[in-house]
Amino acid sequence: MLERILRLSFPMLALIVGAALTFPIWTDGTVAAVRATPSPQVQAPPLFAVQCAGCHGEEGLGTAKGPALAMNQRVAEQSPDQLTAYLQRGNVAAGMPSFADLSVSDRAVLVRYLLRLNVDTITKPAPIAPTTPITWGAPQPGDWRTYNGSDSGNRYSPLEQITTANVATLKLKWVFPIQYFGLETTPLAADGVLYVTAPNQVIAIDAQTGGQLWQYSRPPSAGMVGDARLGTNRGVALLRDKIYFVTDNAHLLALDRASGKLFWEMQMAPDTTGQHFGGTIAPLIVHDTVVAGVAGADHGIRGFVAAFAVETGAVVWRTWTVPRRGEPGSETWQGTEPVTGGGSTWLTGSYDAASDTLYWATGNPWPDSNDVDRPGDNLYTNCVLALNARTGELKWHYQFTPHDLNDRDATEPNVLVDTVYQGKPSALLLHADRNGFFYVLDRTNGKVLLAKPFLRRVDWASRIGLDGRPVVKDPRGCPSDAANWSSTAYSPQTRLYYFLALEECVGNKPGGYPDQTGQRFLRAVNIETGDIAWEVPQPGAARAKTWSGVLATAGGLIFYGQPNGGFAAVDQGNGKALWHFPTNVRMKASPMTFAVAGKQYVAVAAGPNILCFGL
Ligand code: HEC
Repeated sequence: MLERILRLSFPMLALIVGAALTFPIWTDGTVAAVRATPSPQVQAPPLFAVQCAGCHGEEGLGTAKGPALAMNQRVAEQSPDQLTAYLQRGNVAAGMPSFADLSVSDRAVLVRYLLRLNVDTITKPAPIAPTTPITWGAPQPGDWRTYNGSDSGNRYSPLEQITTANVATLKLKWVFPIQYFGLETTPLAADGVLYVTAPNQVIAIDAQTGGQLWQYSRPPSAGMVGDARLGTNRGVALLRDKIYFVTDNAHLLALDRASGKLFWEMQMAPDTTGQHFGGTIAPLIVHDTVVAGVAGADHGIRGFVAAFAVETGAVVWRTWTVPRRGEPGSETWQGTEPVTGGGSTWLTGSYDAASDTLYWATGNPWPDSNDVDRPGDNLYTNCVLALNARTGELKWHYQFTPHDLNDRDATEPNVLVDTVYQGKPSALLLHADRNGFFYVLDRTNGKVLLAKPFLRRVDWASRIGLDGRPVVKDPRGCPSDAANWSSTAYSPQTRLYYFLALEECVGNKPGGYPDQTGQRFLRAVNIETGDIAWEVPQPGAARAKTWSGVLATAGGLIFYGQPNGGFAAVDQGNGKALWHFPTNVRMKASPMTFAVAGKQYVAVAAGPNILCFGL
């Protein structure tokens, strides 16, 4: 049998080898270069017919039992070594057997066939070497160096080349596809390079050409749950020569900014036994630490925020979001001690250098809708925590939804704004919560200066009392999902706060609220009064889980993604539509803007693509 295969394979060699390609001969193990003219058809080696065709089809075009292997981007991007290793290993859980028992030469035959099936497959351009040596310059005004572009968490850019007057001529400059549908990354931009993320992947892209500079990737980790299992990732942090990235299983990595090479790796949680710690966050650099939090409160973690030394990954401090018995806040858990308790911390925080304070959002308590064993407020879930940025020590906290039953994470942006408020210079924190209220806090002490519903229907609480506590009417009342983690912005030009709001009330109670159909709006809120200054109803299904965010620019614009896959720009002053680009895919990421070589660009992740626009 073996001899027959070899004999049959030999004439086939001529067919396998393309004109410009050279391959070793595999019959006797010696390596020789062979050239031949290309053949119009690719004939499958008999071994393929015997071992593979049953699932992948006679010509590798796929069957119900296995995917097409011809014109398959994933296959085309693998090196011969990677394909060989894949055949050896298989993916038994997904239905692809291991072929470890084939001989080395048989596997080589199959790998060559796989490559031949994909000579015409379009793949991403090969990494390009930078034309000039990369020098990491000092931060420039046109950079976007953190998840929100500024420590304040305000997604407002001072760039003003793209304006209300010229945005109508904004055009797509390049597209960078990533084989993952549903990106949530915000690119970082510095020194002419964009850094973007996908599941366990970091990619450096030439900002002007869209060409790939390098890629770091590893396979998905086993045993993940929730968003971490999907591979959700919101971006990197950057400092000097390093890029910081969190993997699905909550390991913090430091990569070489020039090459993507791994410097160090740190498991963020001290002991993961029995807890599903996930990593989805874009970390934040503060002083010489990388600050990051974890996901997994819907699956019973005990949340924390932690700071790691930029050079070594050593833990500098860690603050748990659920207290242990006897610690402050533990009196708000009246059941058994909350060994887990929730309070995840997966949204990038904000930082105020003047007071050296970090503001960090926390998520829902666990178990989320079952409160039998957790009477009390359940601190510090659904809070904003004000933390000493050097020690992690809690300065104050404010809890938006005490004793939550509805998965009302407070993981919405906390935007720090310094302005004259109610007649006096003030240090403010702006926050539109998932519970339907818009808040203005005094960020020096956590006192509520204003709290007002930003939806037409909010009936879980009648108001927020003078003591800052909600006056609860019906704990399971409306809304269901008023706002979420996507970015928001305050413009000093208009003094308005912009975010995407969802008028919806389903699912909290048996039967729901059938009168409420659901509608998304882009809203501009007057921060002095909490009144809606203007709003734009959004096209597309409200329940489409789009969660694109908002970007404001000094050019007088708001950029944001629509539920129908449109990427739009409107006038900050009145919401007038000025520009629109149909991405036609689901948008789950927030836009950013940057400048390189004197030109302003706007970039956003839409579906599986990074899109970059310029004038
Ligand atoms: C019992 C059915 C079955 C057989 C037999 C089988 N495969 Fe597969 N193969 C699959 C399935 C199912 C997948 C998809 C696995 C996944 O989703 O990761 C797959 C995936 C692959 C992939 C990766 C494709 C991709 O899109 O990522 C390659 C390459 C591959 N098979 C090659 C082979 C070769 C070569 C043989 C014969 C030696 C073979 N397979 C035999 C079922 C099979």
